[in-house]
Amino acid sequence: MSASSVIPTVELDDVSVAFSSGFGAGKREVRAMSGVSFSVAPGETLGLVGESGSGKTTTGTVVLGLQHPDSGAVRFQGAPLARSLRSRAGRMQAVLQHPRWALDPRSTVLSSVLEPVLVHERRTPATEERALAMLESVGLPASFAARRPHQLSGGQLQRVSVARALVTHPAFIVFDEAVSALDVSVQAQILNLIQDLQAEHGFAALFISHDLAAVRYISHHVAVMRAGEIVEHAPTEVFYDLPSHPYSRQLFQELSS
Ligand SMILES: Nc1ncnc2c1ncn2[C@@H]1O[C@H](COP(=O)(O)OP(=O)(O)OP(=O)(O)O)[C@@H](O)[C@H]1O
Ligand SMILES: [Mg+2]
Repeated sequence: MSASSVIPTVELDDVSVAFSSGFGAGKREVRAMSGVSFSVAPGETLGLVGESGSGKTTTGTVVLGLQHPDSGAVRFQGAPLARSLRSRAGRMQAVLQHPRWALDPRSTVLSSVLEPVLVHERRTPATEERALAMLESVGLPASFAARRPHQLSGGQLQRVSVARALVTHPAFIVFDEAVSALDVSVQAQILNLIQDLQAEHGFAALFISHDLAAVRYISHHVAVMRAGEIVEHAPTEVFYDLPSHPYSRQLFQELSS
């Protein structure tokens, strides 16, 4: 099969999103996304970089169908995104920056990992077994299953978030600053883990980060956002060898200083 005949896992076609902020005379419109187009193929990671407020998180929420675009189209596996959240549940997932906020402090690790499974299935010894196997594959022993979030380190919690995102074998995962809050050594472990699991499960990913080194390590392609627009989109080797847009070069200087 030629590369061009592969159906992208996700595809954005000329997507724009505006938010209004303020009241009365101070009311103004923020264009969070302007004419954004890209696609991510199965097994591939697109790194999305850009300064704070450039529209990265908005892009992530649009791809996940949590934010509807004002114009443009979003496709998942070749079809328009289904309106119902439930029908998408488990097929797309997200790992966010702060696992302590994403995980219910009262739930055990096992229950947190099981939660996405229970949207479509009942809790049974078989589903519990699947969650335990997932915990093991993110490097957490079965003895962690009964623990609660406050008993875990930041890195361990992020492993739980990754297990939770992967347990339903999604086709697509958004990582929004997923390693940013972690120590550098733990970051490397989580990045390796994401790579290994991607090789095993073949999910497509959008990896949003301020960290150009992490993006380089994990992404196959890189897109640069500025004020809601994608100003550069290139294969990772090409981008890091010679970023072509002046803004990308500026970003390199800012983010690596
Ligand atoms: N729900 C909202 N209501 C109003 N404005 C919003 C909303 N969400 C985002 N914005 C605005 O849209 C723009 C893009 O925000 P977004 O969160 O996507 O940026 P970002 O690139 O993820 O930034 P950061 O790196 O700080 O996470 C910003 O100007 C932001 O203030
Ligand atoms: Mg953001």
